[in-house]
Amino acid sequence: MKALAVFPRERKVELVDLPEPRPQCATDVLLRVREVGLCGTDKEISSFEYGVPPDGSDHLVLGHESLAEVVEVGSGVRTVKPGDLVVALVRRPCAHAECFPCRAGRSDFCITGDYVERGIKRADGFLTEYVVDDEHFLVPVPRPLADVAVLIEPLTVVAKANGQANAILDRLPYESGPQRGLVLGAGAVGLLGAMVSVASGLQTVVYSKGSESGDRANLVRSLGASFVSADTQSLDSLGPRLGQFDRVLEAVGVASVMLAAIGALSANGVAILTGVPAEGATAQIDAGRMLRNLVLRNQVVFGTVNAARKDYVSAIQQLEQFMTLFPDSVRRLITQRLPLAQAPQALRQGGGIKNVVRISPQHA
Ligand code: BGC
Repeated sequence: MKALAVFPRERKVELVDLPEPRPQCATDVLLRVREVGLCGTDKEISSFEYGVPPDGSDHLVLGHESLAEVVEVGSGVRTVKPGDLVVALVRRPCAHAECFPCRAGRSDFCITGDYVERGIKRADGFLTEYVVDDEHFLVPVPRPLADVAVLIEPLTVVAKANGQANAILDRLPYESGPQRGLVLGAGAVGLLGAMVSVASGLQTVVYSKGSESGDRANLVRSLGASFVSADTQSLDSLGPRLGQFDRVLEAVGVASVMLAAIGALSANGVAILTGVPAEGATAQIDAGRMLRNLVLRNQVVFGTVNAARKDYVSAIQQLEQFMTLFPDSVRRLITQRLPLAQAPQALRQGGGIKNVVRISPQHA
């Protein structure tokens, strides 16, 4: 079967032929991959800046935003059956006894850094025809979501972020008035974040590169949020122009934008950082002012990565809600569907909001 693999040492990305995998133990499930979304992480891995092949292998099969169909189940499998649609968790626990998060089933909070991520770090991903996975890492997807379910994995990142922000905001001992949300970045995570923000009743602004009349801006407005273009409004002008926000979601991964997320907070506000900036970025900031505000205005800033099973379950519920509130906007997040053979080119060129590789169209 065909698979898209990156060979970091040889610095090449190419289609390879691999043997079809077979279930090895009672809880294994054989999956036919249906669709895989491409994201910035895949782009970084295919530019050899990130990603680690499985131990002893010279290549890593890419792809972590999965949607697959169950083909065959081992004798001990209880939670899925042939024909079910599933999305697979990306991260798997490290092996260290002292890693309490991993031992507690929360590898998304792994403290050793020795976790494994399918398609990213030390485990092959889903850009291939068949994979085997343990049922414990599979989450069933309702059939009516099939055509947008490839968005579940990026939405889990937002679901985990939002769950934590809600827990922090629970500290406020009063009913809040109307809340304002700012989303920095209009990639898939930012736009899904904007959907969560609007669906939660926040008056929402999205700040991103791209023209005020472009597709992303139109999509943002179709949700009932407003779009402010970074092409015409500088980061510095954000505060004076837009005021302050109770909740800020950063989904860009550029250090200056992440600092601006903190600067945009209102009193008692929460800033959520999800982008991964390059190391070595320096910035001139009034650190005293930022830290003074954090203390005197009860602000919270936190970083968040990956997601647990419960976040997959919430993401599925949120996607169902979005499909009631703004189904066309959700569908418009998927810019194009392409065959596996065109994935290397799509990774090189980028463009669009979410490019999706369709692996088994006969089952779409
Ligand atoms: C994935 C996460 C992963 C993170 C860091 C993101 O693109 O969605 O699941 O934890 O990259 O590797």
